[in-house]
Amino acid sequence: MNKDLVFKPYIKKKDYAGGITREEVKVDSDIDTIWKLSSNENALGPSPLAQRAIYDNLQHIHEYKFRDDHLLKNTICGTYPHLTSENIVTANSGIETLELITRAFLSPGLECIISHPTFVAYESMIENEGSKVVNVPLNSDDYTLNVYEILKAVTKNTRLVFITNPNNPTGTYTGKKQIDFLIDNLPEDVIVVYDEVYFHFVDAPDYPRAFDYIKENKNVIGVHSFSKAYGLAGIRLGYGISTPQLISYIENIKRPFIINTLSMVAGIAALEDKEHLRKTVDLIRTEKKWLYNEFDKLGLPYWPSQTNFIFIAPNIKLNDFTAQMLTEGIMVRPCDKFGAPNGARITIGTHEANRALIAAIHKTYSYA
Ligand SMILES: Cc1ncc(COP(=O)(O)O)c(C=O)c1O
Repeated sequence: MNKDLVFKPYIKKKDYAGGITREEVKVDSDIDTIWKLSSNENALGPSPLAQRAIYDNLQHIHEYKFRDDHLLKNTICGTYPHLTSENIVTANSGIETLELITRAFLSPGLECIISHPTFVAYESMIENEGSKVVNVPLNSDDYTLNVYEILKAVTKNTRLVFITNPNNPTGTYTGKKQIDFLIDNLPEDVIVVYDEVYFHFVDAPDYPRAFDYIKENKNVIGVHSFSKAYGLAGIRLGYGISTPQLISYIENIKRPFIINTLSMVAGIAALEDKEHLRKTVDLIRTEKKWLYNEFDKLGLPYWPSQTNFIFIAPNIKLNDFTAQMLTEGIMVRPCDKFGAPNGARITIGTHEANRALIAAIHKTYSYA
């Protein structure tokens, strides 16, 4: 093929590859456990009911068992008081839900606002549709959204505003008053993409949910994932919630049979597995407090988190910190690619994992 041929000039080299896997980590042979605290996965593993459902359905995978996703949608509806299946679109992961949204609503010449530091994957999805990324950074002290600057950045070409609440990688959240103000003042042809994949872990009383706005018929699309609280990152399942009008746009670009049988049954079972969800949320709350206390003792700066991870600012060079942690068998996520050059993100693990983490930080800090 002629290398000089250019088909879609706005498609750039892909920059997002996700965090490294356990298999990529090389540690000394005397380290027998690798603690993966780098990808915000569920410390307790997958929902046991989801595992059972996958096992029970293995003998059906030669069939197109489900013609559509109505059973999954109905089960999702059961978790929301105000929504029906017309408010829901399902997809293979939160990332694919986001991608369906960008494909449905973007085209060359349009603009999307995002707020660094935030989830890295947004940018390439926006650029792949030929639209422009406009970065309005989070407030630098508390990592909340700068809603006034976002409103100032809106132009006649703005189509989407991405709000990650709570935010990845900082774990911080923006309260209802600010989000209300933003949504009330956006032009009516601007859609808010409200990424709430970590909402299960929130305990702030003034945290707003996407459905608060959707039930008022606002142009808001909530984005959800089964990768976090339900422990199904490997299954790749997610969904979006919005007004029937916006959902129908997205449904129109979806191919049929998009969700595979095993993901479908795992998702339904995970939604019904209230016990696993409760244990997961309880563990995160307890361990978060324990970690805050240990960080305080170490004098290690961190930001209070509404998620299953904590953003810290090590007082040594980021690369040295993450490399040193790896030699102790602890995988953490450097956040330079997220737009936070001095920060690291640590997923909250089991107590054993968190103890190993603190022991490793103690050693690392003594090198500083
Ligand atoms: C803010 C945010 N949105 C969306 C996702 C996508 O999750 P997944 O594609 O695993 O469902 C993630 C994953 O880490 C995330 O942090």
